[in-house]
Amino acid sequence: MTQNTAEGRLATEGPNAEQIEYWNGDAGNRWAHYQDKLDRMLQPFSDAVLRLGAVRPGERVMDVGCGCGATTFEIAAHAGAAGHTLGVDISQPMIARARQRAAALNSSAEFMLADASTHTFPPGSFDLLASRFGIMFFLEQVPAFTHMRKALTSGGRVAFACWRPMKENAWVSVPLFAALPHIPKQEPAVPGAPGPFAFDDRDRFHGVLTSAGYSTIEIEPFDATLVVGSGPDPVADALQQTLDIGPLSRIFRELDDTQRAGTADAVREALTHHVGPEGVALGGAIWLVTARA
Ligand SMILES: C[S@@+](CC[C@H](N)C(=O)[O-])C[C@H]1O[C@@H](n2cnc3c(N)ncnc32)[C@H](O)[C@@H]1O
Repeated sequence: MTQNTAEGRLATEGPNAEQIEYWNGDAGNRWAHYQDKLDRMLQPFSDAVLRLGAVRPGERVMDVGCGCGATTFEIAAHAGAAGHTLGVDISQPMIARARQRAAALNSSAEFMLADASTHTFPPGSFDLLASRFGIMFFLEQVPAFTHMRKALTSGGRVAFACWRPMKENAWVSVPLFAALPHIPKQEPAVPGAPGPFAFDDRDRFHGVLTSAGYSTIEIEPFDATLVVGSGPDPVADALQQTLDIGPLSRIFRELDDTQRAGTADAVREALTHHVGPEGVALGGAIWLVTARA
């Protein structure tokens, strides 16, 4: 089980040590910085998770990998005063942001800095595990989902959103393909490795949930358009975000100045082809997942 250190950061230990390091570094700070914009961009997926979870007043819900809390606040509004909504995340900067926002919004949502896949919750603590993109980062997937299932009541439900393959997600593939001539050759991703596309393969994810003891598993596709850049210069706005967060940003940080300049020019040019009335708009493709404990 991961423990809070005196400094208020999770100790970098356990199966997800690498992710604890990652989400408490620049990545966590950047997500906290872009929180408003990301929440607007990802709202269609929050709405989908909310529909899927169908939270009833009085229910107890864990938002797994809640980040800065956007989905947690919406769940808490449905669970009401008689319910309990707990956002759990390994990222200290994102949990800090979520707590600030809870106070400002007067939300009943509570937040915990913990690894949801190893922290000991009393058995049967929750009626629902929900997540918008917070469940793809476990190194040991079957033990992680087994552990979280034990925190559910018997027959409790899950409502998860995770990305479908990168090639179906233009918001990632358009910038990444534009950048390819300017970046070192990338090793092919290891199927199922922790990261945004860990569960892009429906059958594989179904197998993980089955092995973890879930039943009545349904995994359905859902698509939405993501506005990745807006304002007076939507292309510049989209470029900045693409190079700061998301899959290309991880590569961009490792590049030298020449590679960075070439990448930025190529991505900017690619994004200009996707400007619409609302700004730079690109497709997003996810799986919506329900199951029972
Ligand atoms: C892509 S972000 C999504 C954040 C948020 N759900 C949203 O939609 O804005 C993934 C989140 O999962 C969190 N995370 C990754 N592994 C985790 C774990 N084992 N336990 C809890 N949170 C985790 C990260 O810190 C990060 O906040």
